[in-house]
Amino acid sequence: MSTYKATILVADDDEDIRLALELLLMAENYQVIEAANAKEVIVNVTRHQPDLVLLDMNFSRDTTSGQEGLDILLQLKPFNIPVILMTAWGSIELAVSGLKEGACDFIEKPWNKLKLLNSIEQQLNFSRIKGEHQGYRQLLAQEESKPWVCQSQSMENIEQLINQIAPTDANVLILGENGTGKSLLAERIHQLSNRQASPLISVNMAAIPETLFESELFGHQKGAFTDAKQNRVGRFQLADQGSLFFDEIGSLPLSLQPKLLRVLETGQYEVLGSSQTQSTNVRLISATNADLNQLVKDKCFRQDLLYRLNTLVITIPPLRERLEDIQPLALSFVEQFSVKYQKSALILGQSAIDKLKRHNWPGNIRELSHTIERAVLLSTSSEITAQQLLINITDTGSNAIVLQPLEQAERQLIEKALEVTSGQVIEAAKLLDISRNALYRRLDKFGIKHES
Ligand SMILES: Nc1ncnc2c1ncn2[C@@H]1O[C@H](COP(=O)(O)OP(=O)(O)O)[C@@H](O)[C@H]1O
Ligand SMILES: [Mg+2]
Repeated sequence: MSTYKATILVADDDEDIRLALELLLMAENYQVIEAANAKEVIVNVTRHQPDLVLLDMNFSRDTTSGQEGLDILLQLKPFNIPVILMTAWGSIELAVSGLKEGACDFIEKPWNKLKLLNSIEQQLNFSRIKGEHQGYRQLLAQEESKPWVCQSQSMENIEQLINQIAPTDANVLILGENGTGKSLLAERIHQLSNRQASPLISVNMAAIPETLFESELFGHQKGAFTDAKQNRVGRFQLADQGSLFFDEIGSLPLSLQPKLLRVLETGQYEVLGSSQTQSTNVRLISATNADLNQLVKDKCFRQDLLYRLNTLVITIPPLRERLEDIQPLALSFVEQFSVKYQKSALILGQSAIDKLKRHNWPGNIRELSHTIERAVLLSTSSEITAQQLLINITDTGSNAIVLQPLEQAERQLIEKALEVTSGQVIEAAKLLDISRNALYRRLDKFGIKHES
């Protein structure tokens, strides 16, 4: 095991200087690697992965421009190693250019030993802390990243779209029934955006009492109103440089809409109880299952605010319209809940899969997830069968059936089955629980176009 404190690359074309630095650093228990020219710097950094580089800015003895040092600095950037510059006495400007290019400190030659050693130690500590933070951040990101299924064509299209638009700062409005994955999609957009290192702050508009809205969004100062015992930081401040997710945006009271509009248009707002104007830079993602256009017609939602929110609109289709997602989603939930409830290697039987595909999922993915959770929890054998899936059939909309000629109903059912299976006859036949040939006969009878 190495007993060195760290490995340092000393880059200087003057052999005497390299030697002097080597002696100084070795006495402090650092391992030292040398480089006499630009090429050796890069080769040795690649080969030995030093923890820090001491870089002379005036490499070739006859130049004092420092250009060569700056060039090396640029090449070192991708390695993410702290670089301390060594500059001739009095060349502060060069040192400043170097710091702008990413060097972390500079030392003037001839150096003061103590200053040099202090700087090295400090920069090594900083870089260690930075490394740890990166680790934590990745760990958190991993823990938080939930599985994302997008098997169906419609979800694949959404996936493509968000890859395109997430890095822009465009506001996004997500529409869809409850449980279709609006909140999860908002998280994905934030994670794929350039703001992912900053927070995503979520606010559920339906959960905030009207009187507290303003303080929630913009914050308040102590004493701004009777119950304001402490200063409060608003969501716009918390989300600064990051993203704000307004869930159930349709519940935003009309009285507050002008205030929201202003901050979205100008980035400016006032904390309650203060006259000072604050600035914020947020990307807004909002979601609702309400019909905002209808709310606008009913004068419950401002048209100008809607225009601000809906720069991009993504509509997530209900689960019953994307059958291809049901099986992969169900399998993913079986896996998740098997781990949670410590059940090993549970299989989802074919009868169960068929039953899942036949249900119309008014609660969408959330309902599917609960259904699978119950099934995993109650499972006694290694396979989940159709009987173990407790799907509430009464809420599948059976009241919606209208009495009509039987043939017409039959035709409608067949068309529906083809629609949700994207025209795959075999899959449609399974849903209707008839043989493939029986379905083909009916397709011919009704003159419905199909793949053969
Ligand atoms: N595409 C998806 N893949 C995997 N799980 C999903 C997907 N969409 C939603 N979910 C899960 O379904 C549940 C409901 O999603 P959520 O985003 O809360 O829906 P909504 O906000 O539209 O009500 C959550 O547990 C979520 O993790
Ligand atoms: Mg939600």
